[in-house]
Amino acid sequence: MEQQHSMYNRRDRAAKPGSAVRAGHTGDAQPPFQAPLATSNALAAELRIRIARGDWIEGEKLPSVRRLSEETGLHRLTVYKAYNLLKDEGLIESREKSGYFLTVSRRPVESGFGSVFKFRPASGGGQEPAEAGPPLPALLGELHSVDCRYQFSQALIDPLLLPNSYLAEEAKRVFDLYPRVLGTYAPLQGDEDLLAALRRYLAETCSFVPEGQELLVTNGAQEAIHLVCEALVRPGDAVLIEQPSYSVAIEIFKHRSARLVPVGIHPEGYDLEELEALMRRYRPVLFYLNPTFHNPTGRCVPAEQRKQLADLAEKYGCILVEDDAFRDIYFGTPPPPPIYGYDTAGNTIYVRSFSKYIFPGLRIGCMAARADIMRRLLTAKARSSGGTPLLNQKVFVHHFQSERSRRHLHKLRIALQLRKEAMETALEGSGWNWHSPSGGLSLWVELPEGVDPARLLADALNGGQGGETASFVPGSFFDPSGRLDRHIRLSYSLLNERRIAEGVALLREYAQRQSDR
Ligand SMILES: Cc1ncc(COP(=O)(O)O)c(C=O)c1O
Repeated sequence: MEQQHSMYNRRDRAAKPGSAVRAGHTGDAQPPFQAPLATSNALAAELRIRIARGDWIEGEKLPSVRRLSEETGLHRLTVYKAYNLLKDEGLIESREKSGYFLTVSRRPVESGFGSVFKFRPASGGGQEPAEAGPPLPALLGELHSVDCRYQFSQALIDPLLLPNSYLAEEAKRVFDLYPRVLGTYAPLQGDEDLLAALRRYLAETCSFVPEGQELLVTNGAQEAIHLVCEALVRPGDAVLIEQPSYSVAIEIFKHRSARLVPVGIHPEGYDLEELEALMRRYRPVLFYLNPTFHNPTGRCVPAEQRKQLADLAEKYGCILVEDDAFRDIYFGTPPPPPIYGYDTAGNTIYVRSFSKYIFPGLRIGCMAARADIMRRLLTAKARSSGGTPLLNQKVFVHHFQSERSRRHLHKLRIALQLRKEAMETALEGSGWNWHSPSGGLSLWVELPEGVDPARLLADALNGGQGGETASFVPGSFFDPSGRLDRHIRLSYSLLNERRIAEGVALLREYAQRQSDR
């Protein structure tokens, strides 16, 4: 049985004990000394991923410490530590003199990498809602925390592309302007100056202005999604969600025990007939969508569909939760206006993030909704954070409305476009497929037959002979039905062009080795 699961079976590394799992770094210098804890963390991360994809069945014995040590070339103590980490989390258990076994109750409900959700094909041939499965470790956070040389997993903007010292000076000025800023709370709905600036901004860039009480400042878009879920979704409610979708949103709705109903998103938008059939069949309480530079695919729903979506939402009494996190990160022409602006019946909740490009550390976002929905969102906000920190709002608004902020955004778009192009150039001739996005932070890449994303990730995290490591997010992390997928998300926003070229070359090398096996 152990034989079948030997993803660590790399004879080259076994010959060089200790060179296997390298916790690299994102800088240019050589990786620092590898502390055993970092190495066992990396091994534990890989094992979690393998457990999530269903490599072992409930109660099955895992490879022995000795065997895993031989296969990975890692010291036995390191393997032992990795197993103990998983044991502490309840993922595996040890039996005296017998070894380590996969815990029965914590195993994902279905095999398939990242299978967070159970998926049942409908008897009539259509799609049944995906049901929430048992809790899994926060795999994505785990993946981001593995320190590696070429980090393509996190859709974060390279801090070097942000005007950091200027922003720090601006933050200091805020204390002179508002000496009592730390001495009080912000209003629940948001700081008046910021609300006014957001209204001006939305009028200029999105062609709509939320009325007095229809705008709320949030701790990032993530809190906004959370508030929506708390205010509108009851356990068992049907929720439409794109397939693939932003993994944190999947997790939030899943945690609420919503019945997730996947909706495909294609280069030309949605199949509106399919969408209408799903609305008719499941009567969903809401449709969570990310129609502008969609995460992870980068797709942008065309203008003509936006009005039709608003009409469908009205017809079926389904709230559209329009997550517009990447609107300002476009290359060339700006995207079509938000659905919110087309919606005359007030069925859309508009969610914005600014933490992608203005002071990411401040986590400022906002949401707009018609008054009766907003009242429910405010109740949820009062229950959760009770308001967004005033200092963060003041620092943010000061920069947000400045000319400098506009100039920065303009340059940032150019820099990100160059990085996207560098990644596309590095992928040329690979046989990997992608649809070039006109905005956003990532490429959604389809791997060729014979290359398994989970295995590629394991190889890349593990590092090769030179100890060079890389990370990306396997597509199934974004799939509400948790099916094994051929896609991966490669983010081009964190590394510069040279490092993108090197990191993609490394991934291609690992993929090639896999196809050659
Ligand atoms: C589609 C989408 N929505 C929301 C968020 C979270 O935004 P914030 O950082 O403002 O919470 C992200 C972050 O990656 C995202 O991709």
